[in-house]
Amino acid sequence: MKEMLQAMRDAALAAIRQAGDMEALEALRVRYLGKKGELTAVLKQMGRLSAQERPVIGQLANQIRAQVEAELDSRRAALADALLEARLKEEALDVTIPGQAPALGKKHVITTVLDEVTDIFVGMGFTIEDGPEIELTTYDFDRLNIPENHTVREWTDTFYISRDEKVHLRCQTSPVQVRVMDKTRPPIRILSPGRVYRKDEIDATHSPMFHQIEGLVVDRGITMGDLKGILNTLMQKLYGPDTVTRFRPHHFPFTEPSCEMDVQCFECRGKGCRVCKGEGWIEILGAGMVHPWVLEMSGIDPAEYSGFAFGVGLERLVMRRFNISDMRLLYENDVRFLDQF
Ligand code: PHE
Repeated sequence: MKEMLQAMRDAALAAIRQAGDMEALEALRVRYLGKKGELTAVLKQMGRLSAQERPVIGQLANQIRAQVEAELDSRRAALADALLEARLKEEALDVTIPGQAPALGKKHVITTVLDEVTDIFVGMGFTIEDGPEIELTTYDFDRLNIPENHTVREWTDTFYISRDEKVHLRCQTSPVQVRVMDKTRPPIRILSPGRVYRKDEIDATHSPMFHQIEGLVVDRGITMGDLKGILNTLMQKLYGPDTVTRFRPHHFPFTEPSCEMDVQCFECRGKGCRVCKGEGWIEILGAGMVHPWVLEMSGIDPAEYSGFAFGVGLERLVMRRFNISDMRLLYENDVRFLDQF
């Protein structure tokens, strides 16, 4: 009986040491120490022993029970440790690893420059006005003194919306001048950026849709000097304090006198190079003193008030600013290109 007990003990201890998880361990406990376990089964046979043997075997059995229990406890502790260790490893969070910054978008370069221009004008007391892109021919042409036979009125130049030519996609932001003068009285100081549409073929410097920024100032005693001062300020704030401009006579039906403003080429400083196509100057915008008839049509007395207006191509400002030679790059939305600005 003694040998039987010892063999059982050796088998039990070996099995416990190899138990791979808590369930296996519990099964072993039941198998050896449980009510129907092997040790109990042996003890049930104690009755057959002599009075001499009984206490010896009883003591051995108790010893074995204690040994098996101790082994179960230590294996249980070892398994619990391993479990914790594995969990710690699995759930480890290294707070010192640099985070992954989410890729945020950014402003389109056209918006960036528009925001700069807007800031400059708001700083000079201008307010921002909006106008419709689908415009009445009255506002875009008639009220701007554009003659009946002007080429801009042709279907080859302008996107008409209605057959009767009463509605079209505006080809300039100038109709906003009329809308503002119709609803407000001087002093007027507004800036109106927006999209305009012309039937132009797409190339490096043309697009059927582009952006203009219209400016209008109407008050008592406004002169061409004010026009030049404001536009020079814009150029210097946008392109740097040593930017040189020049004003050339021009013609627009809605301003009198009219002019175009050029900036001296940044590349060659006026000598003529590839960037300015040998001119030394780059045309930036059209402007002029608001035509007295245009004021009159809005009920503003030209004897009392005068004003100036200008219209500048936003894409052109952007291309100058960042030395971009092809306008199409601004619309292709290739983030590898746009990310640079
Ligand atoms: N609307 C003109 C153009 O598109 C520009 C302009 C605006 C000229 C205001 C004079 C005054 O060419």
